[in-house]
Amino acid sequence: MKVSVKVPATSANLGPGFDCMGLAIPLYNTITIEETVLPGTGVEINVLAGEDMENELRLDHIPMDENSIIYRAVELLYNSIGQTPSELKITIQSQIPIARGLGSSASVIVGGLIAANELLGKPADEVALLSIATEVEGHPDNVTPAIVGGLVLTSREDDGSIVYKKLDWPEEWRLTVCVPDYELATDISRSVLPKEVPMQDAVFNAQRMGMFVHAIHTKDAELMKLALKDRLHQPYRMKLVPGLEKIIANLRHEENVLGTVLSGAGPSILIVSKGNNQDKIKSIVRDTWADLNVKVDIFDTTIEKQGATIITHEDD
Ligand code: HSE
Repeated sequence: MKVSVKVPATSANLGPGFDCMGLAIPLYNTITIEETVLPGTGVEINVLAGEDMENELRLDHIPMDENSIIYRAVELLYNSIGQTPSELKITIQSQIPIARGLGSSASVIVGGLIAANELLGKPADEVALLSIATEVEGHPDNVTPAIVGGLVLTSREDDGSIVYKKLDWPEEWRLTVCVPDYELATDISRSVLPKEVPMQDAVFNAQRMGMFVHAIHTKDAELMKLALKDRLHQPYRMKLVPGLEKIIANLRHEENVLGTVLSGAGPSILIVSKGNNQDKIKSIVRDTWADLNVKVDIFDTTIEKQGATIITHEDD
């Protein structure tokens, strides 16, 4: 039996929503799990370059053995029904750049879980899958939009369950995704964050989150400009993403730009705009990073409403 699942990239945080908000982006990893015929062959994990990704692929960043995050996710699922995985061939067709703040690890966790769940006859429902995926990833803001698509508010409750709500992203607001040519591992990017933050910074972010949700509901661009700000993670990560501060400043007064934020743990940058100033936005980002010898891939897109999807299910 063989199952393939297509999972979108994600951008978490979106400024004020550190660890509690994310959206799906139309760039995909496809994860295939096959039950192999020979007993005792163990678990084999292969990573293949997706379209246009030959230069981006860094095989050494996805461990090929059973310690990999995908294996851990699959193992937790099997364990939850009292089984252990064996004789599986896992293939990851990768289009999402690794360690760039675009949810590459969330996508393989989610793809592995959904494919394995299908192979097992769907013992886990969405609630269970979200909770296992979050346990492996550590926070729910990438795995939730990877599973359900769209823009989501999400939280992990004390009992480990995940609560989420989808919001309708205004169609007319575009996303410009800027991916620099270097990697930043999430654990390094989290290691610079303080254990405690000043009360006024917590209040600042609570204010921006309220504004963000209202701006989305009412498509209020002026309110969104106030909302796309953060004091809980971006200031601490500036030193890991040279150019971020300058790019935010250079785009602040650009026509139709609603905000510039770090995508997830970085180093990619996400710009939200009304969409008709793309060339100028791209050249500002390119020039600012070029001054620091950073090359950048930029694509302009909108939200992916569809979450992870089973694209192949072949029974022997
Ligand atoms: N919320 C997470 C962070 C996303 O900012 O560290 C990274 O996966």
